[in-house]
This record gives sequence, C-alpha cells and structure tokens, in this order.
Amino acid sequence: MKTLSHVEARQAYDRVGEKLDALPYYEDRATDELAQCGDFAAARSVFEFGCGTGRFAARLLRDHLPETARYRAVDQSTTMVRVARAALAPFGERVEIAQSDGEPPSDQPSESFERFVSTFVFDLLSEEDIALVLEQAHRMLRPSGLLCLAGLSTGSTPLSRLSARVWASVHRLRPTLVLGCRPIELIPLLPVCDWHITHHVQLTPLGLPAEVVVAERR
Ligand SMILES: C[S@@+](CC[C@H](N)C(=O)[O-])C[C@H]1O[C@@H](n2cnc3c(N)ncnc32)[C@H](O)[C@@H]1O
Repeated sequence: MKTLSHVEARQAYDRVGEKLDALPYYEDRATDELAQCGDFAAARSVFEFGCGTGRFAARLLRDHLPETARYRAVDQSTTMVRVARAALAPFGERVEIAQSDGEPPSDQPSESFERFVSTFVFDLLSEEDIALVLEQAHRMLRPSGLLCLAGLSTGSTPLSRLSARVWASVHRLRPTLVLGCRPIELIPLLPVCDWHITHHVQLTPLGLPAEVVVAERR
C-alpha cells in the first residue's frame, strides 16, 4: 500500500497542528494501556519517535516516570515540534525535542535509552521505513530495554475489522484524508531474533481497531 512521502507527511502534520489534540481521542485507550504495561516507573531514559503534540510524553513525565528520568524525542513536523516543546516546557531540562528530516534516528547514541516509544506513527510509515526505525530502536535501547508501540491495527472483532477495511479503502483513495495512517499489524514486523514480545493487546475504542505492543530488546 502506498504511503505518504516524508515531505507529504510533514506538510499534513504541519497543517493539522494543535488541532490533533482536539480530534476525538480514540488513541487514549491504547496509550493508557501502554502507560500501564511499559514499566515506565523503572525507566531512567525514554526516546520517542514522532512525539506529535507531546500529549503522551506529558502524561508519562507527570504520572509514570521517575522525577529524574530524561525524555528525548524527534518529530519531523515543524508545528508538532513547536507545540510539543511548549507543552513539555514545565519539565525543563529533562526534555529535549528535535526536528528530524523523517529519516530513522541514526544520529542517537547506542544503548542509551531504556524505553523506545512510538505511538500512531508506524501506521504512517512504509514497511521499509518501519524496519529501519526498528533497527535503530534495537541499537539505541540498552539490553533488556523495552520497545513500546501503539497504533491503528487491522482489528480483532467483526466491528473493528470492518472499520479497518473502510479506513484502508479511504487511505487507498486519498491518504491525506486520514493523515497518512492505515491499519497495520505490528507483531509480524518485529524480527523474533531481536525482540521478545512481553505484552500484546488489541482494543476497539470508538469502534476503531488499535493495538499495543511491548517488546524486550534481545
Ligand atoms: C498520528 S500523529 C501521532 C502523534 C503522537 N505520537 C500521538 O500518539 O499522539 C503522527 C506523528 O508522527 C510524526 N511523523 C510522521 N512521520 C514521521 C517520521 N518519518 N519521522 C518523525 N516523525 C514522523 C508526525 O509529524 C506526527 O506528529
């Protein structure tokens, strides 16, 4: 399935900007689950790929991470980086957010993070880009570090499978209408030699299919 180019995705998220947080937040069920099962209370360092408005990071920093934990993120949208920096400013020097060019984060140091988070971003990326981002996540995580993912999935109930099919058809016709996101399955994308799945949940918030995966770096 054709995905948006990095430039098209940046333009789409630059346009939507702050309004992303005003959309009906079907993502919350999945990110709530991820916040619970990602063992964030034990994490001293978190990297997020595609932080958007910083909504999930704010929740992690406020409610789940130790007060000394540091958080670093990239996003390729100028607007999202501006909005996330403003939202996370109260957390001061613990937070660092950089604008990327859409490429996988190969400039980050190896074995330097305990969590690699990405929510509702892989569903925008091509399978080639997902594989490259996962390679970097594996390199950047410390041994036993956790990969924490949530995203739009292909569904696990008749209703959610139907919603996923409708969503995929809209994406095929006009991907920008759904901000480049299409339903994908995360588990088959994680190489067994690199990742040990510790948590996998399918949810159907607002009738839409979502998936949460936590995997330990082997
Ligand atoms: C659907 S939003 C999700 C935002 C946030 N993670 C959340 O769960 O609310 C997708 C985000 O990924 C960012 N993004 C898309 N492709 C990217 C890429 N190749 N590199 C970095 N960020 C990307 C977009 O700019 C946008 O902020």
